[in-house]
Amino acid sequence: MSQDSAKRLAAESALQYLVPGEVLGVGTGSTVNFFIDALAPRKSEIPAAISSSLASTERLKAIGIPVVDLNEVDGISIYVDGADEADAGLNLIKGGGAALTREKIVAAASQRFICIADRSKRVDVLGAFPLPVEVIPMARRLVARKLAAIGSRPVWREGVVTDNGNHILDVHGLQISDPPALESTINQIAGVVTVGLFAHRGADVLLLGHADGVDRIE
Ligand code: A5P
Repeated sequence: MSQDSAKRLAAESALQYLVPGEVLGVGTGSTVNFFIDALAPRKSEIPAAISSSLASTERLKAIGIPVVDLNEVDGISIYVDGADEADAGLNLIKGGGAALTREKIVAAASQRFICIADRSKRVDVLGAFPLPVEVIPMARRLVARKLAAIGSRPVWREGVVTDNGNHILDVHGLQISDPPALESTINQIAGVVTVGLFAHRGADVLLLGHADGVDRIE
C-alpha cells in the first residue's frame, strides 16, 4: 500500500469523531487534504470550520464548508490534524508544512485532538524529523545560536515565510526523551513564536493508517 493510501485510510477513519452541528477544527497537510475530501459528502453536518492555514481554508471553502475566525467561537469540540512524528505518549512533531503556530492555537482551543497519519510517522523517540521552530525574523540568528547551545543543529528553511510573516528553523540532531521539558525550554527563548513540539497539548487520539487498516492509540 502506498503512503498516500495509508494517509487516506487514517483520514477517513477520523470521520467517526465528527460531532454534527458543531464547529470543526481542521489542520494542514496532505493527510488533512484527504480528510477534507472525505468530509465533502458530510458537509451539511458541519456548520463551520476553524482552519489552521490559508491552504486548508481554500480547500474547505471549495467543498462548501464556511471558515470562521477563532474569535467568533467559544471553543471547538474536535480538531483533526496530521503530524510529522508521533510517539507512544501521543507527543507530536508538527510544522513540516510551516503551519505550526496556527495548529498549536487551534489544538489549544479544542476539547479533543484527533491526529491522523500513516504508520511511518510513529516513532519510539521523537527527533529524527527535524523539529520546526517558528521565529520572529529579526531573532532568527539569535534563536539559532541558543538552539545550537543546547546541542542541536538548527537550519534556516530559506525562502519560507509563514502565514504569520515569520521564519522557520528546522532543528536537527535531537533525540527528544522528555518532550514537555524540551517544549518548555525552547518556548523560553526570546524570539521563538512557536516550537512544533506538541507535548503539553499532544493528541488525544492517534489514527495510523497502514496496509491492514488503521491502528488507534489513545
Ligand atoms: C503542517 O505544518 C504540519 O504540521 C502537518 O500536519 C504535518 O507536516 C503532516 O503533514 P502530512 O499530512 O502532509 O504528512
